Amino acid sequence: MNKIYVANWKMYFTSQQEIAFLTDNLAELTALSKTNTLIMCPSFLSLVTINTIIKNTPINLGAQNCSTKDDGPYTGEVSAKSLAEVGCHYCIIGHSERRAYAYETTSIIKEKLDQTSTYGITPIICIGETDQEKNDGKTKDILKEQLIPLITALTPRSSILIAYEPVWAIGSGIVSTPKLINEACATIATIMHHAPTIHYKILYGGSIQSTHSAELKKTNVDGFLIGKASTDFQELKKIVS
Ligand code: PGA
Repeated sequence: MNKIYVANWKMYFTSQQEIAFLTDNLAELTALSKTNTLIMCPSFLSLVTINTIIKNTPINLGAQNCSTKDDGPYTGEVSAKSLAEVGCHYCIIGHSERRAYAYETTSIIKEKLDQTSTYGITPIICIGETDQEKNDGKTKDILKEQLIPLITALTPRSSILIAYEPVWAIGSGIVSTPKLINEACATIATIMHHAPTIHYKILYGGSIQSTHSAELKKTNVDGFLIGKASTDFQELKKIVS
């Protein structure tokens, strides 16, 4: 079944380890990419080398973040312009870890979307509720609150990936249920109904493992955003296969 798989390596590997993963598993990753869309998101440091390694394959390259700015005196930042230059066609935007640890707000995320739009990078926009919000029955409201303001920052007719990532499921070992995932897909579809020119696909992320990926493939999502499990090639292969 053709689905989209985003490997979000976060900061699990060193750059050498990321490069070795691609080099060692290149043939099999290439084979998996023939029937699926595989998007590898290593650290910034490895993008240039990995872009060279995957050059003649269908494997896609993505970044985990980008600056809100085009260029200038912004120490430690990496621009979407640079990412495009090194072959990144995707960029994760608004991941809950960045919202929590780097204090990214909706207005910051909007600026980043402006940047990805400008440089032709498809954003992987992450949204999702916390455990408390889920328990309070606020999931729909949170998805609306997070996604609606971002739609205005998108260029008409652009393509985006929307990753529904419940915060309580990320890195916790607790995966969401098909029912909750399908409800989130329905909410996202209702929101996106108001932006008919935007071409979107929905991903699910949060503790995906091979033990339950087959069940989750039967939901309405178009693919998955995989964190920890994507750092183990055999596990990644089982999820994608
Ligand atoms: P996880 O991470 O699969 O390790 O839970 C998913 C994500 O944060 O993208």
